[in-house]
Amino acid sequence: MTSLVTHEPALTVRVFTQRFSSTLRGARLACRLALHQLDRWRLPYGSETSDVAGLLVAELAANAVTHGRVPGRDFELTLAYTPGLLLRIDVSDTRGERRPAPGVPGLLDEGGRGLLLVEALATRWAVLDRVPVGKTVRAELDLGPGPRSRRIAGVP
Ligand SMILES: Nc1ncnc2c1ncn2[C@@H]1O[C@H](COP(=O)(O)OP(=O)(O)OP(=O)(O)O)[C@@H](O)[C@H]1O
Ligand SMILES: [Mg+2]
Repeated sequence: MTSLVTHEPALTVRVFTQRFSSTLRGARLACRLALHQLDRWRLPYGSETSDVAGLLVAELAANAVTHGRVPGRDFELTLAYTPGLLLRIDVSDTRGERRPAPGVPGLLDEGGRGLLLVEALATRWAVLDRVPVGKTVRAELDLGPGPRSRRIAGVP
């Protein structure tokens, strides 16, 4: 007789979400709290995943408070962590009409590199509409043994 009961282990998704003022101070705080939360989830300070996630949060939060800022409105950071599988970083701002667009910065340009860094470090990233207003910039890190994850982990 074939058993219909499967014994797949249940997936636990851990979620952290918080709003911050749309200031450079708020962006720095988001970064610090993200690293603290990852450490509590046993992705320790100084680990490769923590370092990469810190850079992603820093770039996305800096963009939210410079390009996505609406005066008086906060931005929001959400981390969703599925151990051994996925770390998702969502940074939402309330400015819907302006969209992130990676550029091709000239040699002497001081800016325009943040999203190129996101593109290089994240397994994938995307911009999503947010209800009722604004957008979410999402970056994901695969933590499993896939090729893209291995590259992030520094293994050729
Ligand atoms: N959250 C956002 N809201 C609106 N526009 C954005 C957002 N993030 C990025 N952009 C747009 O995409 C462009 C490219 O972003 P990117 O982070 O690559 O460069 P930058 O922020 O201009 O410079 P740098 O990140 O190197 O300091 C920005 O100049 C901006 O026009
Ligand atoms: Mg930027």
